[in-house]
Amino acid sequence: MTNRDSFSGRFGIIAAAAGSAIGLGNIWRFPYVCGQNGGGAFLLLYIVCIVLMGLPVMLAEFGIGRKAQSNAYRAFKILSPQKPWYLIGVMGIVASFTIMSFYSAVGGWTIEYVVRATTNTLSGNHDEMFDTFIAGSYRPIAYQFVFLAISVGVVVIGVRKGIESSTKVLMPALFLLLIILCVRSLTLPGAREGLIFVLKPEFSKLTGNSILAAMGQAFFSLSIGMGCMITYGSYIKRTEDLNYTANVIVIAGTFVAILASIVIFPAAAALNIEVESGGPGLVFKTLPGMFEQMKGGVFFASLFFILLCIAALTSAISLLEVVVTFCVEELKIHRGWATALVATSMFLLGILCSLSLGIMPHLSLFGVNFFNLMDFISADIFLPLGGFFIAVYMGWALKKRITVKELTSGGTVAFSPLRIFYFLIKYIVPVAILIVFISGFWK
Ligand code: PHE
Repeated sequence: MTNRDSFSGRFGIIAAAAGSAIGLGNIWRFPYVCGQNGGGAFLLLYIVCIVLMGLPVMLAEFGIGRKAQSNAYRAFKILSPQKPWYLIGVMGIVASFTIMSFYSAVGGWTIEYVVRATTNTLSGNHDEMFDTFIAGSYRPIAYQFVFLAISVGVVVIGVRKGIESSTKVLMPALFLLLIILCVRSLTLPGAREGLIFVLKPEFSKLTGNSILAAMGQAFFSLSIGMGCMITYGSYIKRTEDLNYTANVIVIAGTFVAILASIVIFPAAAALNIEVESGGPGLVFKTLPGMFEQMKGGVFFASLFFILLCIAALTSAISLLEVVVTFCVEELKIHRGWATALVATSMFLLGILCSLSLGIMPHLSLFGVNFFNLMDFISADIFLPLGGFFIAVYMGWALKKRITVKELTSGGTVAFSPLRIFYFLIKYIVPVAILIVFISGFWK
């Protein structure tokens, strides 16, 4: 237990946890889910979910992880022996697999676009380009493999050296680039309409599933509800202020999602791209068109897709890490072998996701293709369900004394919103998740 790897300091933790949180969820998934659910009103719902549920659950996860100094499964066994809470950890491991199956497919797409951007072959009809690419048989899968192989490489090197050092540089660079792209997008002729779409809430545009989608998106984009932040919490030093760390990550993540929307929607409006039906291809169809209209477009396109790819990698790494730490600590498998084994299984499931968008469109369940099904089950069901149990656990099962001690880092830092935190984690989070579930499925 004493030789667990740990993050070196405050910036290291923030960079690594933000690296997990900020990824395809904010830049690829947010704009298209927001587009399907009417724009501004969805953005508002998303922010409400982040504040009321996201922040408290993230804090709870950090607290549990740091207190137990263990993986998500063992953490519950240590803190509450002989109780079935460890099943939260088991569910998180299942969620890692389902998320990674489609996440690695999209990660592979980013590599294809890096190659295209850097070789200046990104021009033409972008709708068609994307559709023929994902419908093709082997290229998406080959790139999916490459994406997973790189993630394996980083995870094998280890937490501190691998994860921390790669995210420290990336995160600030990503912010900067997004801001540059916002400026370009907003100054395109016809961009105004897109900006109105995302900033002006029109509640009539929300559909029956929008609240569930907003909640799922909030959990997904913060990497919470599946033990990822429990695992990262266990690498945080005892003296660090968890509340501060969680706040920075939540604010940064939300900011990136909003920035991404301010890039995508105005650009889509200017280029006449349908955002409501854009689906998973939205970012890949919209942005190349925008880059074409930019001075130095090839340079910016290359930079953007490289950063998107790295942002995806730092999140994929955290997904892998959850399962790998479990295999190393519980099943006593060597780290290298564990990583290879887990990634291979994820790849096999991921192939099905890729094929369901390509040559095997009939690969579907309940009328939904496999890719969308994995996405839906992971983000809209597993993560909020995990969040529900984590909140119930911390609010009702874990002794308050332990929580307070952890959140104040043993009494060394002040945690003034303790009352609000308890109110949210005990009542608001579980009840809200239940209501959203019931309203989402009771139709
Ligand atoms: N939060 C990541 C993203 O936005 C995805 C993720 C979800 C990573 C859950 C880890 C756990 O891309």
